[in-house]
Amino acid sequence: MKLNTTLIIAAAMLMVACTGNTNLTSPDGEINVSFSLSQDGVPHYQVSAYGQAVINESALGLEAEQADLRQGFTITKVRHEAKDEQWEQPWGENKVMRDNHREMAVEMSNGQGVKLTLRFKAFDDGVGYRYEYDATAVTDSLTIIGDHTYFNFAQDGMSWSIGSYFSGYELPYREQAISATENANTPFTFKMDDIYGSIHEAALYDFPEMNIYRQDSLSFKSELAPRPEGTLARVGAEFTTAWRTLQIARDAVGLINSSLILNLNEPCKIADVSWIKPQKYVGVWWGMHLGTHVWTMGPRHGATTENAIKHIDFAAANNIGGVLFEGWNKGWENWGGNQHFDYCEPYEDFDLEKIAAYADEKGVSLWMHNETGGSIFEYERDMEKAFAKYQSLGIHYLKTGYAGGMPNHIRHHSQRGVQHYQKVVEAAAKYEIAIDAHEPIKETGIRRTWPNMMTREGARGMEWNAWSEGNSSIHLCTLPYTRLLSGPMDYTPGIFDIYYDNGRAMGMEQWNGDNTKVFIKTTLARQIANWVLLYSPLQMACDLIENYEGHPAFQFFRDFNPDCDWSEALAGEIGDYIVIARRAGEDFFLGAGTNNEPRTVSAKLDFLKPGVSYEATIYADDLNAPVITQPDGSQAPDKTFYTIEKRIVTSDDTLEISMAADGGQAVVFKPVEE
Ligand code: NOJ
Ligand code: CA
Repeated sequence: MKLNTTLIIAAAMLMVACTGNTNLTSPDGEINVSFSLSQDGVPHYQVSAYGQAVINESALGLEAEQADLRQGFTITKVRHEAKDEQWEQPWGENKVMRDNHREMAVEMSNGQGVKLTLRFKAFDDGVGYRYEYDATAVTDSLTIIGDHTYFNFAQDGMSWSIGSYFSGYELPYREQAISATENANTPFTFKMDDIYGSIHEAALYDFPEMNIYRQDSLSFKSELAPRPEGTLARVGAEFTTAWRTLQIARDAVGLINSSLILNLNEPCKIADVSWIKPQKYVGVWWGMHLGTHVWTMGPRHGATTENAIKHIDFAAANNIGGVLFEGWNKGWENWGGNQHFDYCEPYEDFDLEKIAAYADEKGVSLWMHNETGGSIFEYERDMEKAFAKYQSLGIHYLKTGYAGGMPNHIRHHSQRGVQHYQKVVEAAAKYEIAIDAHEPIKETGIRRTWPNMMTREGARGMEWNAWSEGNSSIHLCTLPYTRLLSGPMDYTPGIFDIYYDNGRAMGMEQWNGDNTKVFIKTTLARQIANWVLLYSPLQMACDLIENYEGHPAFQFFRDFNPDCDWSEALAGEIGDYIVIARRAGEDFFLGAGTNNEPRTVSAKLDFLKPGVSYEATIYADDLNAPVITQPDGSQAPDKTFYTIEKRIVTSDDTLEISMAADGGQAVVFKPVEE
């Protein structure tokens, strides 16, 4: 499908030029944003929803060395527009999207001749605004040294976030009062009375990312990831920032069902997207984290020709599209030190040409892996040569990695970092390569414009379960309402060897401390549910393939289709539980997960097609599992116990989803052939 065939079903454009009305209301009339200027000409805004203040009057403005971007402004014009149109994307939680919003552009200038347009958009699911500066009357270029965008919360409430850190996101989520949060990265999700909200950004290009820092009890200010010498960004005299976004909903799942971030991004820039396809994959990966295998050449090398063939055979036999190989290319010996990865040259025991030919014969995609260790200058120098080679071998999937510091004290999330990640996306698009980025810049919806930027890590993923105290079920119940609001995540779900029994038998050797205590902190059924809950168009079954061979519950992954047409979060509360349904083709999938408390949730199946009978295959926690001593010494039901049940259901039915502590449930619905 070509994106220029985007279907515009209805569009209504209305343009009013005036200097008066600086109020903007969402199409449904429930969300309001209003603009004002203080006496000294500093722009301000405030936001209310459902008749209640959410953000009290808060200042706006950037600060530069060369020109006054902050004050002395007077309004020259206010333009209002409205739009209601549908558009399609080649992949996503939902393929058909609706962009229904009202827009207000407040055009201003100040005594220095600096022009500023503050553009606001109000949707039924929140608001976005951005700065459009023109300082050409004063200077040719600008050095940004301050961001004075404020978020003055109207009242206290709870919040869910990770702390501010400009070189990574792999931190546990915190649940704390808004007023107890010193600083946070975004998405910063909060609940104020009965209103749910989340602050983030959309369409971040060529500019540092925004974090928020508390000034006093409920007032937060934007802080940008700095450049090494302490300034924030270097831009031309005319520049536009990312949208600053505030998603708003009446219930927690409303945040997940919001399409605000994508709607604030530009349409697709890739002419032919036919090669960009969702896919399930397995990989030579988990073994390295467990320590049963290693990335480097030697007796425990994971990426060998023999192992590659074995994985390709497994993928082909199990309806899995791709196989990822880590440690296939030279340079791993010095990872974390003075590394020089070669992105073209395989280790001697990995016959890339032979493997590519074999994969092609079997209809399986090869996934290359480029760990850079953070060496972005080398990678920018070498990547196109590597991409050309991969393209010549018919390879369309690439996992990148930045596990290590960037040179010259460049922070991952600074302007230079943002530029780097974008360079990779655009270069990869030229060679028809889709990206799964680890240690990435956060997603801000650029997947709409660059759909080859398919998935990314950007939070504490599965790997932490191999070599740390791991990720709790609360973390897993928080991700959909925080990190995943920004876009897909390559969490890499699906460990079946919950207690690493097979891993230990296979010589698991933990490279970060005591390997007797590590284990997966959820039930096996929850591992399955995570394939549905943690959306990624490229979805991995990450365990050693030995742990899936002959396992009855692996049938779920065989049946699963990550190429969604439609999704809806049905029920949940942040950090407590979550239920999501998706449709791919004629099949539906449901995932449910709870935190460390057992829970029963009723889900109406009215999302199924009316009049159609479905065979539901239900992968559930075994609520009669025996209590055992867990590796950490606690007593709890054995997490490996599960049940599989088949039932005929229709859209009139309701499913009672009973989950164990740290548990979940996953359901495949297939239409019954008449
Ligand atoms: C960290 C990534 O998240 C992980 O998936 C990868 O295996 C290692 N870095 C090595 O590149
Ligand atoms: Ca990582």
